[in-house]
Amino acid sequence: MIKYDFKTFMDIDGINDYNLYIHKIKERLKKEEGPDKFINIDKCITDKEIDKIIRVSKFIKNNCDVFLVIGVGGSYMGSKAIVSLFENKLKKDIEIIYTGYSFDSNNLANILEYIKNKKVIVNVISKSGNTLEINYTFSKVLEFMKDKYSDKELRKRIIVTTNKKTGKLLNIAKKNNYMKFNIPDISGRYSLLTAVGLLPMAVSGVDIIKLLEGYRLGAKNIEKCFIYAVIRDMLYKDGKKIEAFTIYDERFIYFNEWLKQLFAETQGKKKSGIFPISVFNTRDMHSLGQYFNEGENIFFSTVINVVNNKDVKILDKSLNKINNIAMLNIAKSYKMPSIIINMDRLNEKNIGNLIYFFMVSCAIGGYLMGINPYNQPGVNEYKRLIRESI
Ligand code: PA5
Repeated sequence: MIKYDFKTFMDIDGINDYNLYIHKIKERLKKEEGPDKFINIDKCITDKEIDKIIRVSKFIKNNCDVFLVIGVGGSYMGSKAIVSLFENKLKKDIEIIYTGYSFDSNNLANILEYIKNKKVIVNVISKSGNTLEINYTFSKVLEFMKDKYSDKELRKRIIVTTNKKTGKLLNIAKKNNYMKFNIPDISGRYSLLTAVGLLPMAVSGVDIIKLLEGYRLGAKNIEKCFIYAVIRDMLYKDGKKIEAFTIYDERFIYFNEWLKQLFAETQGKKKSGIFPISVFNTRDMHSLGQYFNEGENIFFSTVINVVNNKDVKILDKSLNKINNIAMLNIAKSYKMPSIIINMDRLNEKNIGNLIYFFMVSCAIGGYLMGINPYNQPGVNEYKRLIRESI
């Protein structure tokens, strides 16, 4: 179960001024058309595809030491986040390694060295099939795989997740008859619960059926998404330019990275938008805490807290309780507004629900700003620049 605590904001003047906008956005989202269709996951992925993902994930778990996932941005961040949350579920004899999210040659060289004598299965993920980081990394990895395996074996060990129509990756997959998964026609960062994220998650031991169930349940709480989006918008207009996504559980470090990607890429447009940062407490109270309390008054925080955790008793005290007390007191004493999201425990259903909450709130927030939540001209400009200069 997840509880959203917006109470510090309920007396903010002006919330009703948003009624007309909200009505319009609701009418639009109800249609679940075009890129908005991510809000109804059943329009983005079929039961048949889910069955195939589960079947292939079993094959992967039984036939490799390392599952190498190549992706960047929306084809990487969310998947890495969820796999990291449930790290304890991964079978002991298999590792999932992500790469392709940079041009860091040291990192790739180390990975290739590390997997040299291991059984490997590769999943390359790119919606466009043309992203440079991915294509370079995949070329090298393919060379490595070709040295190691026969063509027949490669057809079981190379899995390509991309769109149905175009791109270099699609051509390679077709030409060599590699196994393929489809990315539907929705924005990259909103495709997390398609084969993009579901295959790595299933391999990692995440119960993807429960995760999807949690996501569908999120729709019952869509009002919360509207409240969150409106509060963020009002805070921004009140000079709170930076949102500190704040966690007290280290497993959420990559979840925060995903939130940064989702919100920055969706809403950082037309010289406006909240800048997202990641805070892990109480570690960061000993660094950023100084700025939060005495620096510029430009922050608000969105706290994600897991109430029940594996506990450690220290001097008759529960460390988990101490962490919860710290969270509440820091939120109270901060000189910044805090939105608190409490989940009773970390499980697939809650996380599915939370993914819905953040994705839908983020898109609504984009509509409130009057921008297109699903494009990323700034990222495309970087891609153009790097393509031209290499
Ligand atoms: O959300 C997005 O659209 C981006 O973050 C993309 O996912 C990212 O740039 C990678 O693109 P692609 O999946 O086409 O390789």
